[in-house]
Amino acid sequence: MASGVPAARRVEAAEPGRLLKLKEMFHSKFGTMPKFYVRAPGRVNLIGEHIDYCGYSVLPMAVEQDMLIAVEPVKTHILQLANTNSLYPEFTTSANNIEIDKTKPMWHNYFLCGLKGIQEHFGLSNLPGMNCLVDGNIPPSSGLSSSSALVCCAGLVTLTVLGLSLSKVELAEICAKSERYIGTEGGGMDQSISFLAEEGTAKLIEFNPLRATDVKLPNGAVFVIANSCVEMNKAATSHFNIRVMECRLAAKLLAKYKCLQWDQVMRLKEVQDKLGVSLEEMLLVIEDALHPEPYSPEEVCRYLGISLKELQTQILSPTTQDVPLFKLYQRAKHVYSEAARVLQFKKICEEAPENTVQLLGELMNQSHLSCRDMFECSCPELDQLVDICRKFGAQGSRLTGAGWGGCTVSVVPADKLSSFLANVHEVYYQKSNRGLAPEKQKLFATKPGGGALVFFEA
Ligand code: GLA
Repeated sequence: MASGVPAARRVEAAEPGRLLKLKEMFHSKFGTMPKFYVRAPGRVNLIGEHIDYCGYSVLPMAVEQDMLIAVEPVKTHILQLANTNSLYPEFTTSANNIEIDKTKPMWHNYFLCGLKGIQEHFGLSNLPGMNCLVDGNIPPSSGLSSSSALVCCAGLVTLTVLGLSLSKVELAEICAKSERYIGTEGGGMDQSISFLAEEGTAKLIEFNPLRATDVKLPNGAVFVIANSCVEMNKAATSHFNIRVMECRLAAKLLAKYKCLQWDQVMRLKEVQDKLGVSLEEMLLVIEDALHPEPYSPEEVCRYLGISLKELQTQILSPTTQDVPLFKLYQRAKHVYSEAARVLQFKKICEEAPENTVQLLGELMNQSHLSCRDMFECSCPELDQLVDICRKFGAQGSRLTGAGWGGCTVSVVPADKLSSFLANVHEVYYQKSNRGLAPEKQKLFATKPGGGALVFFEA
């Protein structure tokens, strides 16, 4: 049993219908009954976008939607994966020969990432086989981290089948690393909150070392998720990895400008730490060191005194080697200002002044603007949706997750919730006939949910 990961002895009564269906389907697929279940939640990031991979703290909470897997360990070394949703085809492989095909972001690859992470951590050459039936209710490609939830769930499934144990922090770190087998250079936010979440509280997630601190959200406000219905699969495009590389290059140029050992610097936070200055001061350093015009790879090379080949093979990732222009000034500005907003958000929650909701809303609005204009990870539908949300009572609204589609999160005074939901529904969804997904997947209030869990039946 995984120590540190709570195991409920009996199946919780929260979703008896869902579990019963899962069990029946498991039986009809595999002819046996599952031996245990694992769930790992998705998340909504309240503030702190695209800064985890730069080393900065973020402020997410788990949502109640999750990945739930019914598992039966088997004596063969065959891994059989099935999904309750027929959109996701079944997959069978030898558990000893795990190959993750980066060229096609197929659903089962996320499971394989979690499995491989555990296998590598323990240096195991043989893995036991298992039959797994996956049931997910996190809207896919929506910025609520359905893919990381599957990676985390698979990691915990594998650990449990092996009868081994790890702390939640170790599991989160392993799964963050192993999800990169898919080809995206994500930070660790999604996996960390999936394991470290606790019901009733958002978390400040800090990295190096990884830790999570409770952030109590204000009473009297509700966080509402709205899906733009523009699908964004970050593994299917290179937007995400380009941003990661732009941040890496910005860090190196800033370090070089400040006469630091730039070749050892990978993240924007390292520059700040080495200089020992505030985030506000880093914003001033950008003004002196970087220019708003995009940088060509040649200019980056001239500045760092390296060859194009060195840039491509030693600094850039395989999918970003041919990017013609890098916006370093804008990306760095977003990162340092967003990192400051996270700290302000936490402070306001702690101090809880009378106008808390208004202040949090303002920070969320600023965050959206910065994502839109400086980081360029929004899209017209997300911009329209945040405008609509603000118009109908949200004190603040922003894209959440990677962006380029997916969901917004808004902070809404509790007494305005029902009119807010009705109006946003009418104006964004009904009028434009957006998305056929059930209501619960498009527009819903959410509160901080609990983290990953293994459970057995009595
Ligand atoms: C994705 C990544 C996270 C984070 C967000 C953007 O969800 O997996 O690590 O970078 O995008 O904040």
